[in-house]
Amino acid sequence: MSEIRICGYRPLSGEIKIQGSKNGVLPMLAASILQKETVKFTNVPTIQDVTCMVGILESLGCRCRWEGSSLTVDASECERSEIPKEDVGKMRSSILVMGALLGRLGRAVTWYPGGCSIGSRPINLHLLAFSRLGARVQEEDGRIEASSAKLAGGPIILPFPSVGATENALLAAVLAEGETQLLGAAREPEIQSLCLLLNQMGADITGIGTSKLRIRGVRELHGTEYSVPGDRIAAGTYLTAVAAAGGQARLLGAPWDSMQEVVKVLRQVGAEVEPVFGIGENQKTNIEGISISMEGRPKPITLSTSPYPGFPTDLQSPMLAVLARAEGVSRLKETVFEARFKTANELWKMGADIEISGNEAVISGKHRLRGARVSACDLRGGAALVAAALAAEGETRISDCIHIERGYEDICRDIQGLQGRIQRIP
Ligand code: EPZ
Repeated sequence: MSEIRICGYRPLSGEIKIQGSKNGVLPMLAASILQKETVKFTNVPTIQDVTCMVGILESLGCRCRWEGSSLTVDASECERSEIPKEDVGKMRSSILVMGALLGRLGRAVTWYPGGCSIGSRPINLHLLAFSRLGARVQEEDGRIEASSAKLAGGPIILPFPSVGATENALLAAVLAEGETQLLGAAREPEIQSLCLLLNQMGADITGIGTSKLRIRGVRELHGTEYSVPGDRIAAGTYLTAVAAAGGQARLLGAPWDSMQEVVKVLRQVGAEVEPVFGIGENQKTNIEGISISMEGRPKPITLSTSPYPGFPTDLQSPMLAVLARAEGVSRLKETVFEARFKTANELWKMGADIEISGNEAVISGKHRLRGARVSACDLRGGAALVAAALAAEGETRISDCIHIERGYEDICRDIQGLQGRIQRIP
């Protein structure tokens, strides 16, 4: 099990490129099953979750080929409809393949993905969507089978804007007969990019970016080429690292438009955050990234996470690291997941003063954090420990980094690109 060692208490400085979006590319890879040609994705992050998704596609009969950061999926011979149980255990997002298999083959078999350290993470809304489209859903001993000779479009109302359930409903509805109204849909940028990809493949989706999506079923989809947007959570992670440790950074490829709530909050804690302009291939000025500079300790704030366009739950733990050094008391409420404060226990070992009560954290900022031995509890919690370690005096060792490597291409490479003293210890 690899460890990360960080010597903190030095401002960051530099320019790095932000990886392609993990939460964007995973549903897109599932969508490639819906057509019988090939889809070429560019700017694909080389992370373990993508490797796992490629393994699932190949186990179903797809052929996948990497060329640098481009990944081509040939789904012409996708004939198997059962997702291997061991793959479901490796990655919860394997559930996203279900909607695409149902749309392509009329049958999908998978296993309950189970909860993880941030919550129970049920899939009842996914199965509700399939039932509303006329699929027969059977569950027995953890095995789930959904089948339908031909899906029929209809109204689907989501009581909570679940990202995964919205994605699965879209993937199943695009080839269904008739029109589907998806009400209460999630509006995350990853949903929007999935809709744009599907429409580029020949689907007919309108209302993109709103909570009311209308999908007119089409007879078939075709291949295409698509560039994966920059990862807004990876970019947000590095922005919080600068807000915690001080200094400045330019993050090329950070998606400015979909990070406005994050920009607002970082400005509230005292950072200067601006778009980075560049000249595009069309000789027009466009935004090619985000710059941040931060001096002194962060200011305390009151913050609540919420579904997009609110402050993303995935940056809640990194914000704990920032507010742990604020000049006062902050309050942070988590409204999306029921158990996403585990990293506070690890930050306590570094001298942070964080009291958890239900879904709310009260953070009494400290002038100094100290390096310590800590362990990553989950993907974004591990990233939060990196941010805190960069702000702390002395050396920090983070174990269980496997969690971090699931979603960040190379967090050591990126932080080193910002002059951070960080290295992976095999
Ligand atoms: C996606 O997870 C992301 N993962 C998560 O990112 C992200 O935190 C989350 O959306 C919220 O933005 C991927 O995209 C691969 P949800 P997902 O369904 O789809 C409840 C990361 O760190 N719920 O929107 O699983 C659920 O329990 C990960 O990159 C039901 O009750 O999130 C949770 O409380 C972590 N029934 C809430 O909705 C359901 O059927 C949000 O879940 C589905 C969800």
